[in-house]
Amino acid sequence: MGESLSIILVGCGNMGRALLQGWAADQFQLDAITVVDPDAQAGRACDAAGVKWVAALDELVASRADVVVFAVKPQVMAKVVPQYAKRPTDTLFVSVAAGTRLATLSNWLGDEVAVVRAMPNTPAAIRQGMTVLCANERVTDEQRALCARLLEAVGEVAWLEQEGLMDAVTAVSGSGPAYVFLFIEALTKAAVSAGLSHALAQRLATVTVAGAGQLALTEELDAKALRESVTSPGGTTEQALKVLMADGGLEDLIQAAVKAAERRGRGLG
Ligand SMILES: NC(=O)c1ccc[n+]([C@@H]2O[C@H](COP(=O)([O-])OP(=O)(O)OC[C@H]3O[C@@H](n4cnc5c(N)ncnc54)[C@H](OP(=O)(O)O)[C@@H]3O)[C@@H](O)[C@H]2O)c1
Repeated sequence: MGESLSIILVGCGNMGRALLQGWAADQFQLDAITVVDPDAQAGRACDAAGVKWVAALDELVASRADVVVFAVKPQVMAKVVPQYAKRPTDTLFVSVAAGTRLATLSNWLGDEVAVVRAMPNTPAAIRQGMTVLCANERVTDEQRALCARLLEAVGEVAWLEQEGLMDAVTAVSGSGPAYVFLFIEALTKAAVSAGLSHALAQRLATVTVAGAGQLALTEELDAKALRESVTSPGGTTEQALKVLMADGGLEDLIQAAVKAAERRGRGLG
């Protein structure tokens, strides 16, 4: 793409680094990006990647930016974000902080400011993330397209018009990787109980989840149809699914888990 967008990335920990790597791979012009992060390790990573780095906002030389991306922990957002309030009003602000509402961001930055709230997930680290975006009414179509390009560098992007559903998104794709890791753990334990070595058990469980996920992504059939297509009447899979799909089984547990995460998200917000 070779795109020369001026970007200020505030916070370069796990998510910030994932974004930087995605932008580098998508050939955004790295010399137009400045990272603000007090952590020397983040600084070293930026130096190695050829990205400008400053430890604090007051060291920033260029004041103009097309986009400012906040990738700091939610608990420091209230301290960090207001420091960026005095930027030109054509700057787009993007926050990936879990739980920080658009209204809160506008309170800190000013009502006239264009703000997008983004909810990415951990597979962003390998550019296989799922990010849901929600914009306030100040964001132009051009800025929406720009924001989508920035997040598409780490995976897929979807827009949500009702911010109220962001807690549901967080409970599904935000927390979802942890549910899948638990499934891999459980399948590994069951494989060990069935007599396999731990190393083989872990490999079977992990590659099966990754392969099935990839198949579900690429096939036109939905997950239900795929499941039915591998379930022969009277076969082994059917016996296992009878257990998983019984009352109180996997589906009921997932429903309850997502509800619990959603409730927590609402509480935190
Ligand atoms: N990781 C994920 O997969 C994921 C998924 C969805 C959403 N998010 C969101 O992404 C945000 C960042 O998460 P993370 O996992 O990347 O956290 P992280 O690894 O802790 O990174 C945050 C970085 O921000 C730095 N920082 C602290 N104060 C700062 C300041 N005043 N100015 C600039 N930088 C500052 C931290 O430095 P110090 O270490 O020195 O404090 C750290 O390097 C969170 O709000 C989280 O909700 C993350």
